[in-house]
Amino acid sequence: MSNYGVAIRGTGSHMPEKILTNADLEKFVQTTDEWITTRTGIKQRHIADYATATSDIAIIAARKALTEANMTPLDLDAIIVATVTADMAFPSTACFVQKGLGARNATAFDISAACSGFIYGLSIVKALIENGTYKNVLLIGAETLSKITDWTDRNTCVLFGDGAGAMILSQTNQPTSIVSVYTGADGSYDTLLQLPGGGSRNPATHATIDNKLHCLKMEGKEVFKVAVTKMSDAVNKALDQANLKCDDIALFIPHQANLRIIEAIAKRLNIPVEKVFINLQKYGNMSSATVIVALDEARREGRIKPGDLIEMVAFGGGFTWGAAILRL
Ligand code: ACO
Repeated sequence: MSNYGVAIRGTGSHMPEKILTNADLEKFVQTTDEWITTRTGIKQRHIADYATATSDIAIIAARKALTEANMTPLDLDAIIVATVTADMAFPSTACFVQKGLGARNATAFDISAACSGFIYGLSIVKALIENGTYKNVLLIGAETLSKITDWTDRNTCVLFGDGAGAMILSQTNQPTSIVSVYTGADGSYDTLLQLPGGGSRNPATHATIDNKLHCLKMEGKEVFKVAVTKMSDAVNKALDQANLKCDDIALFIPHQANLRIIEAIAKRLNIPVEKVFINLQKYGNMSSATVIVALDEARREGRIKPGDLIEMVAFGGGFTWGAAILRL
């Protein structure tokens, strides 16, 4: 039995200003707007400039969420950042966010679950607020995937974009807003989606740079198949945990990697397309940032009414996957 509930007090998002369209990509890699649009649904993505790190955009998203929550950085007792594009191996990106916000009362750490990172974050925050450990938590999904993209590889470079989303969650005596969270992983799929260079397995050398091991590697076709199965399964597992049915959910917010993946999941689960939020045409795949940026946009566009149940679902490198049902 939980001691407390979790209240969602605010959300915010921020994407870097510069936009790279499919037409721009046609100029330096062998691809076409037609191929990218029909295979993925993506039309453009936002790209950070050289000097901008993940924490820089995370801080802007966090300030917006704090403003909506009517809180100051000093009210926070924890900052958690989900990212695969940390500013550095250490300090954590959460520590850079803490410094940038001046959130001196907050503990700070990162979580590594690739595109499922925000869902993993919700499961951590749910446990630690409900058991009384934290009162006010800033949870962020933020990425500058452009920094780990091989801009000569058409198989991957058309897919990704940069962006950040933030959520403020607080302890409450009311029923919890994080109704259920389910997460899963299977490390045996490690080679299908990874960034092999720069860690302790392949420390940085001239050879790792020459071989582009510091760029994301992906077997797209294989990832596609497992993504559809695992995300469909995760949607059902989170519903079962909460004793809910698909029909109870007002809006589904899936990981924004590929329109065809989203359509395949909706078809499998018999979810009408108007109940699925899609913004990948504007941003591409922003990994851990996708679901929280989409939730923030859905709220601002009036797609979510107070009291609505929404379900987020994600899948990423690891493989990892997860789904969360929230009452807004
Ligand atoms: N432009 C033109 N042609 C291309 C491009 C491109 N950008 N990319 C690949 N092609 C070519 C391939 O070389 C191939 O040519 P070939 O038949 O002569 O070898 C052809 O197009 C077909 O390639 P496929 O891989 O069969 O294309 P597919 O329909 O599978 O689409 C895609 C590829 C979009 C990558 C798809 O597999 C996909 O979305 N996979 C899932 C990726 C994903 O979701 N990853 C993220 C999940 S985890 C995370 O978010 C990090």
